Amino acid sequence: MANDDVAELKIGSKVYPLPIVAGTIGDEGLDIRKLRQDSGYITLDSGYGNTGACKSAITFIDGEKGILRYRGIPIEILAEKSTFVETSYLLIYGHLPNKAELSDFSNKLRYHSLIHEDMLHFYDGYPSTAHPMAILSSMVCSLSAYYPDSLDPKDPEQVDHLIPRVLSKLRTIAAYSYKKSIGQPVVYPRNSLRYCENFLHMMFAVPSEPYEVDPDIAAALNMLLILHADHEQNCSTSTVRLVGSSDANLFASIAAGICALWGPKHGGANQAVVEMLEEIQRNGGDVQKALALSKDKDSHFKLMGFGHRVYKNFDPRAKVIKAQCDTLLGKLKKADPLLDIARRLEEEALRDPYFADRKLYPNVDFYSGVLYRVLNIPINMYTVMFSLGRLPGWIAHWREMHLGGDERIGRPRQIYTGTVEAPYIPLMERR
Ligand code: CMC
Repeated sequence: MANDDVAELKIGSKVYPLPIVAGTIGDEGLDIRKLRQDSGYITLDSGYGNTGACKSAITFIDGEKGILRYRGIPIEILAEKSTFVETSYLLIYGHLPNKAELSDFSNKLRYHSLIHEDMLHFYDGYPSTAHPMAILSSMVCSLSAYYPDSLDPKDPEQVDHLIPRVLSKLRTIAAYSYKKSIGQPVVYPRNSLRYCENFLHMMFAVPSEPYEVDPDIAAALNMLLILHADHEQNCSTSTVRLVGSSDANLFASIAAGICALWGPKHGGANQAVVEMLEEIQRNGGDVQKALALSKDKDSHFKLMGFGHRVYKNFDPRAKVIKAQCDTLLGKLKKADPLLDIARRLEEEALRDPYFADRKLYPNVDFYSGVLYRVLNIPINMYTVMFSLGRLPGWIAHWREMHLGGDERIGRPRQIYTGTVEAPYIPLMERR
């Protein structure tokens, strides 16, 4: 180390200085931006476990201590005191809104809840078996067709024009996709309702009967969405940033994020957890069998809802959700056998040296699926719910990247391992 601000990398007899980059808290980094130019070497980091792709002021995680903060505010406090709309504002604009800002933001979300009526026809093109994530991603991308004059990512006014629209309309698109999948008429938003209540109304009301939103259910949904709202450079957020770095518009970038979230290693895990718990229940509740399978590398089966790239301790979101499952089931005077199986599975896993040695703990998805069950959300909508929650985080990162001014198109390099040079063999001569 030459001094406190610079590290040195020695390759052969040559020494390359690498400036040390520090943030306000957390990991410090080595700035390798000039490394290839100066030395001819690149770095190799598949899965990007050691790569800082950007500087960001939005979300802080300490994975060793199990800390998660949005704009400096601990997630537990936001889950208890905030609303999803207020937390969205906080993430996107960097501060808690004052009364006037919150009222203006909420009014915009209310006002822009409808989607263009023509878009209702799009739903008819999907088979009834279509996964709602397929519908959600393509419908969100299609929104770009309705805002041709507001798609410039470098124009803050245009970006601000789109933000409340995408936040409000994604909720409507999500609820309509469920209604279409069960053959019920779509229920238009009722703008006198608050954000989460309006979603539940669109999901569960029918035109033929009155529907009252249960305030406990709305409060639990509000909390779930807050807990999902951002998680710094996760797979889907990095996707949104990467796609956005080409100056693709906000809708296209968000649609790409939705696709990244769909995978069972990421947001799709909430659906996979409940499917796993149901399978354990069908097999007589034997949690040891699932644990053994997840430890057997040949099975390619992972204990869903366990493990995390960043958390090597309890995921703070999982703790809050687990407590909320108990509270809500108590309030509704209900029991869920899957919650008991989940609890036993967690207990056994935490006692097992395989999980302890690898620091594998329950993540956000372990109990969120169980809570969605209590809220009566159908299983194929769980990852859609995650998208709804993660949306403000995606927007905040996309906006930060564009307004930050130092973004370059995302374009990693590679270590090539293929044939160096090959002749073109005419078709008739090939074996
Ligand atoms: N069950 C069994 N073994 C596991 C699990 C698991 N759930 N997770 C990790 N391991 C093992 C893994 O096989 C490896 O073992 P070994 O050292 O013997 O090769 C070790 O633990 C380290 O894991 P890793 O694969 O290096 O971890 P990663 O950071 O690449 O992957 C993960 C993180 C979340 C993709 C992974 O833990 C996993 O697939 N978990 C199950 C799916 C899941 O719950 N995903 C939701 C993540 S949280 C919310 C979100 O991001 O959307």
